Amino acid sequence: MPTSASPSREDLIAWTATVRGEFETKLREFVEMPTVSADPQSKPDIARMADAACATLRDYGAIDIRTIPTDGNPVVFGRFAARGAARTVTVYNHLDVQPAGEPQWKSHPFRLAISGDRYSGRGTTDDKGPALSALFGARKAHQDGVPLHIQFLWELEEEIGSPNFEQALRAAGDSIRTDSVVVSDTIWVARDKPAVPAGLRGLQTMLFRLETGATDQHSGTTGGAARNPIAEMAAVIAGCLDARTGRCKVPGFYDDVVAPTKAEIADFKASGFSVAQFKKDHEFKSLRTQDRLDVMKRIWAMPTFEVHGLVGGYAGPGVKTVIPPYAEAKISTRLVPDMNPTRIVRKIRAHVRKLNRDVRVEAQHHLMPYRGKTTGKHADAVRRAIQFAFGKEPVFVREGGSIGAVLTMEKLLSAPVMFIGLSLPEHGYHAPNENFDWGQASGGMVAFRRYFEELAALDPNPH
Ligand code: BES
Ligand code: MN
Ligand code: MN
Repeated sequence: MPTSASPSREDLIAWTATVRGEFETKLREFVEMPTVSADPQSKPDIARMADAACATLRDYGAIDIRTIPTDGNPVVFGRFAARGAARTVTVYNHLDVQPAGEPQWKSHPFRLAISGDRYSGRGTTDDKGPALSALFGARKAHQDGVPLHIQFLWELEEEIGSPNFEQALRAAGDSIRTDSVVVSDTIWVARDKPAVPAGLRGLQTMLFRLETGATDQHSGTTGGAARNPIAEMAAVIAGCLDARTGRCKVPGFYDDVVAPTKAEIADFKASGFSVAQFKKDHEFKSLRTQDRLDVMKRIWAMPTFEVHGLVGGYAGPGVKTVIPPYAEAKISTRLVPDMNPTRIVRKIRAHVRKLNRDVRVEAQHHLMPYRGKTTGKHADAVRRAIQFAFGKEPVFVREGGSIGAVLTMEKLLSAPVMFIGLSLPEHGYHAPNENFDWGQASGGMVAFRRYFEELAALDPNPH
């Protein structure tokens, strides 16, 4: 338990006000580097980001600072070493971001726009803002002499599925050993409903491709006899998915889905989730279902079959009466326990082959579904830290997104992985006008400061 010398919530809130300017300057520096991991042209910015992250750690008093090279982007490492500490915690965040080409941006995505308590820009909430909140909370714990080693792993290719993260952890080996991990890269149910993931969905991305010609052809001279690859692709997609209900038609798709337990359903019901708020946060005009429990099951506990983009044909202004030579569909499925990506790809491939033998299914990247820990001393420390900082205990519900690094860390570091996410649905993960806010940033600093103190107090004598 924290000692009587530990700062009160009021002390810490007062402290956050003193670092607000510094936080905003740092957030601006980070957001203004367009670290789009999906875009090969961002390589120089990724390299600059890694350097800036190392420099930040150095300025804040960390040691052992380095980038762990991989075949892809490096992983940034550094740590605050504490006197008298018996335990180490690792803080995980990612500093790469999604592309930001959407036309609906109201300010430049790679300029930090500050409006009152709101910070807008790509990466503000996913995940540079939370990364800095955790860092500021850690630096404060370090300055206050909390007896805990706190180290950082900052990834630069989370948004493309963490393809080289395992390689980085293997290369670093024992030099990054840790007793536990805390990830700050998840969202709450709502501003007044803190949430901790009890699980994450997995993901399998795929490309369906159909080629029926080599070049565009005039639909007047060839149409009628020529095949239309876009129309055929649309039929294949319709053969895989009942678009209105969302039900996947691939035989056996749902075979391995483990239904949420009674206790999980009770947690869903008690989560404070609201369909109206969900629609508002994500700017939806309507949904596939209005039923509250059904919506929660669909986003947290059921698999999906999704079409992200259809490539091919003419999409420019006006009319162009063309027969396109190919069509490509960008497809993914979110996976839940105990679904297996390899088995799912096999089923989808067999089904697509029956629908249209000319369509090639290329399996791209996959992430396994993840089941989180909701009990034990670390989960209780998370509960207490969030209660302390935000005045509310978190609900533990599954989350719909995926974070590739989580299972890798659990496996290779042999340490429990906990979550203190700070993002809100209204912050617009991956959306135009993505934003973060000072309430979540400062509350997050306090939550992390407290969590580190809780961890230091957990096991003074582990050996
Ligand atoms: N922070 C998200 C993961 C997330 C999303 C957690 C929603 C909780 C709720 C992460 O940055 C992310 O976007 N992951 C991608 C991974 C993919 C591109 C391989 C995802 O889930 O689509
Ligand atoms: Mn993220
Ligand atoms: Mn993301």
